[in-house]
Amino acid sequence: ADYSFRGRTIQVVKDLSLDEQAYLYEKARILKESLKKGERAEDFRIGNPDLGVYLMFMEDSTRTKESFRNAAKFHGLKLNDFDAKNSSFQKKESITDTVKMLMGYNAESIFIIRSKQEGVCRWLEKAMGSYAEKAGMPRAGFINAGDGRHEHPTQEFLDEFSFLEYHAWDRSHIHIALVGDLFHGRTVHSKTEGLKIFREVEVDLIAPTELAMPEHYLNQMIQNGYKVRVFASLQEYLAQAHQAPVWYFTRLQIERMGEKLLKQGEQLRAAVTFQRDYLTRIDPATRFFHPLPRHAETPTIPTFLDDTPFNAWDEQSRNGYFTRIIEIGMLGGLFGKDFTGKGLDMGSVDEPFIEEAPIRSKDKPEYKIGIRPVDEGIVIDHIGTGSETRQIWDHITKIRNVLDLHQVSSQGVFQNVRQNHYKGIISIPG
Ligand code: CP
Repeated sequence: ADYSFRGRTIQVVKDLSLDEQAYLYEKARILKESLKKGERAEDFRIGNPDLGVYLMFMEDSTRTKESFRNAAKFHGLKLNDFDAKNSSFQKKESITDTVKMLMGYNAESIFIIRSKQEGVCRWLEKAMGSYAEKAGMPRAGFINAGDGRHEHPTQEFLDEFSFLEYHAWDRSHIHIALVGDLFHGRTVHSKTEGLKIFREVEVDLIAPTELAMPEHYLNQMIQNGYKVRVFASLQEYLAQAHQAPVWYFTRLQIERMGEKLLKQGEQLRAAVTFQRDYLTRIDPATRFFHPLPRHAETPTIPTFLDDTPFNAWDEQSRNGYFTRIIEIGMLGGLFGKDFTGKGLDMGSVDEPFIEEAPIRSKDKPEYKIGIRPVDEGIVIDHIGTGSETRQIWDHITKIRNVLDLHQVSSQGVFQNVRQNHYKGIISIPG
């Protein structure tokens, strides 16, 4: 009876146990039905103007930001749109100091954050948890609205909600095809965990090698007991009979892969873009999903499909509103008292995306120019290995800017004589 989601953080899908995810979907289902009937759904509204919701979007967003904004308004909360682009963030103020300050303006707070910094909500959960304890304030809740290439858990929850809705809430089995840029797409990475809501999972991964699902996620899917098949293109997929009824497309992000792949762009796109003549080769009951936005000029789901029964992505997009109302309601303390399932096993959450590696050799190479070995600090090695020197310098600059590495430190491009190629190193002592 005392169960509460108050002050919890949703950094990754696993931050909610499977039972908690099922609870979210069930609440969202009831809410959606109620709102569709034109009811006010008063029981679903927090109505606490002292609970502050901060939208902190350091990267562009339409759907996530607007659905959270409208969800917070639905609840009647104190909504703050933090102007991250024009704030002191640009003057290198730390996010920790900013969040600490903002917490002081509300009796209780929920932060919804989109950032390039992977794991930022987990960091804030830890840093602000101890701060709140010392200051005698309630813990703030943090929701990851997309962190770099890592995860987008609330998109995953709305996706799974949409798949469940398609399956008439039957969790026994799903057969899904993931199509597009499986390398960069955080929404397909999140499927590794999110699809666990179904007891039996068959996943068909459709992408050319250059855009294939990273091995880490592929192995995790297999470890989760999913039946996984891999196809290099839609043509290859359509040449066999066991096709999934649910197809989940993603946008290609080849602009993130440098010159080499940009040149191959057309070929990569063709491998995962639906063509008109495929219509005769798929079951008409197939439904297409997409996290949106689609690419404006070269969408993997072409616009001629918009007004066909294949279109399940519009409803999926609308579902973001219902699921996000429930997520705010959970972290804001409205929902939870009637939760009876298995809660979160705190030990299961930490993600192994940073791995400790054994030190193989104490010898550090001395380079003739630029870099000295460091005993303590950060070294980023093998930058752009095998590329032209100009590209490696370009890459070093990007890393510096993206990670905001502007300390006193050194860097360089070096030749590996034995392997006859170049690589970059950034070295930050201390
Ligand atoms: N699907 C999604 O995250 O869309 P936005 O980038 O518009 O938020």
